[in-house]
Amino acid sequence: MAEVTKQYLTYNTIHKTVKKMAQTIISSGFDPDVIVAIGTGGFIPARILKTFITRPILTVGLSYYDENNQPKEAPEKIQWIDEVETKLKGKRILLVDEVDDSRVTLEYCLRELLRHKPKEMAVAVLHNKNKVKRGVIPDEITHYFAGEVLEDNWICYPWDADNIDEQDRQALGHN
Ligand code: G4P
Ligand code: MG
Repeated sequence: MAEVTKQYLTYNTIHKTVKKMAQTIISSGFDPDVIVAIGTGGFIPARILKTFITRPILTVGLSYYDENNQPKEAPEKIQWIDEVETKLKGKRILLVDEVDDSRVTLEYCLRELLRHKPKEMAVAVLHNKNKVKRGVIPDEITHYFAGEVLEDNWICYPWDADNIDEQDRQALGHN
């Protein structure tokens, strides 16, 4: 099997991508009441986004892969929002994740959140992989923002790095 190409990114690059995306979100006129971050990949992007769009962050945990790294039949909630009705009903929600890959988890999460009758809902991902998607963005979603569109390679995020200096060297091509 051909080796997967890896794309390494620095925190610095990611911060700038989030800032640029925040400016696009603000320019669009979409003004969320609340940010919902999908854990764990969406946590750090959502926190950076809050620097530019100051809203409370709620978090949800979903898992789609089992312990053998095989996709489950459907994503599973491992953590959800409590007092969900009061927190989401009639609100403008911005759902944040790090990567739109197959889109399966994203679709599942959007549909689950839509059940709580938000006033409006948008999605923001740091990276959208340019590929055929198995999931769909539901029609009710009014805006889709992607910080960057990347080719279908394996993205190596700095928060997964064992050695952050080596991560930066790889990302900057100084190896
Ligand atoms: P999607 O709906 O957002 O496209 O997600 P999908 O179910 O396809 O992705 C399942 C998992 O695979 C997600 O992690 C996602 O972050 C991860 N993933 C997909 N492509 C990449 C990649 O290029 N690099 C990295 N590092 N991860 C990728 P998860 O199971 O939700 O775990 P977590 O890491 O977010 O906690
Ligand atoms: Mg994720």
